Amino acid sequence: MHKGKIAAALAAVDLVKPDSVLGVGSGSTVEVFIQQLAKAGIRLEGAVASSEATAAVLTKNGFDVLDLNMTGSLDLYIDGADEVNPNLQLIKGGGGALTREKIVAAASNQFVCIVDDSKLVDVLGEFPLPVEVIPMARSYVAREILTLGADPEFREAPRTDNGNQILDCVGLHIDDPIELETIINNIAGVVTVGLFAERPADQLLIGYTDGRVEERSAEG
Ligand code: A5P
Repeated sequence: MHKGKIAAALAAVDLVKPDSVLGVGSGSTVEVFIQQLAKAGIRLEGAVASSEATAAVLTKNGFDVLDLNMTGSLDLYIDGADEVNPNLQLIKGGGGALTREKIVAAASNQFVCIVDDSKLVDVLGEFPLPVEVIPMARSYVAREILTLGADPEFREAPRTDNGNQILDCVGLHIDDPIELETIINNIAGVVTVGLFAERPADQLLIGYTDGRVEERSAEG
């Protein structure tokens, strides 16, 4: 485990208000965050999970998992990322949870992203961009993505929590993340693209191997 992940996760624990309803993302950094939250003795009214895997970790650590349909808007969402650019726009979905992550992020007033420093890039796209697709549309969407200059690779993995499949798009250099997010989301059969550009993170906590944590906000 990258020590920066642990540092960023620990810093995020300080942002959580006891007895609140918290949005919780997916991935190894978030898993550490949940464990540290429990260790700190912070109790929640409940948490909304962005994946079945996260729901299981929350339950194991003694937190109640709530249905987003029952909670209304959330004050705070904590999640990791696969790449982050200087505008706090993200590539997410390496773990396959992109659609629910985007839903919980959209329903939250504040999105705090926790990463180690290896996730920082100037331009998004070196990490293959995940696209969740309705299974019957997989080949059609792949052909459309080829026209965008990317190489779509079918992810050999169990279906997503939503019963869909993922294409990982290799070879992109994303100069205009909002435009590409819109273009890919408009392809018939696409459920979600793992670009979080229209709604980037509001705050970024970057953990380094020496335990230092740097904070950046969307305002710069
Ligand atoms: C899950 O689908 C992803 O969006 C994760 O947020 C991302 O892969 C970060 O994962 P790690 O914290 O394991 O690096």
